[in-house]
Amino acid sequence: MDEAALRQQLVEFGASLFARGFSVGSAGNISVRLDDGYLITPTNSCLGRLDPARIARLDAEYRHVGGDAPSKEVFMHRAFYSARAEAGAVVHLHSTMATAIACLAGPGDANPIPPLTPYFVMRIGRRLPVVAYYRPGDPAMEPAITAAAREARAVLLANHGPVVSARTLTDAVYAAEELEEAAKLALLLQRFDARTLNAEQVNDLLATFA
Ligand code: 13P
Repeated sequence: MDEAALRQQLVEFGASLFARGFSVGSAGNISVRLDDGYLITPTNSCLGRLDPARIARLDAEYRHVGGDAPSKEVFMHRAFYSARAEAGAVVHLHSTMATAIACLAGPGDANPIPPLTPYFVMRIGRRLPVVAYYRPGDPAMEPAITAAAREARAVLLANHGPVVSARTLTDAVYAAEELEEAAKLALLLQRFDARTLNAEQVNDLLATFA
């Protein structure tokens, strides 16, 4: 996809996520990798009302070269792009259920959401590390996210929210949606003796859909 099409896609996904309550106010940020840099949502922008022409443009060294001032969490996106060569897009949300799990699970927890459904395993993978709490926009979180992102496509930031990466923007949005649904199921089933996928079933999914 060319840059104009990606800008348009980013606007449409932002509006869709906002309309369905995956993001409220100015929460969340989204980036996509270009051949020679990145597009990222402007800081304090509402995902529901993005203007394609004002989306921030970064060069390959993450310097701001166009559009409005970028998200204050550029470093969070950089952590994924530097740790995962395949990452082509990163989605950060404060979606309610995943954030609720991020308030329950402790830093270092590798599996805060059990493998209840195939699509959670296919989109998120075997691990979902919880990264310790840092103030939003605090660049000190970059090394912690980078270390976690080397082992996983997505992380939960303690008491803050999920960050998800994938090859394409479409896949990253789908993964963020799947993570939110998995978090909802995990919370719904917390007091029940739920049947999770076993190790063989998880391995089969990862081998088939890797
Ligand atoms: P920005 O508006 O700077 O992208 O920050 C939003 C956010 O989600 C902070 O965690």
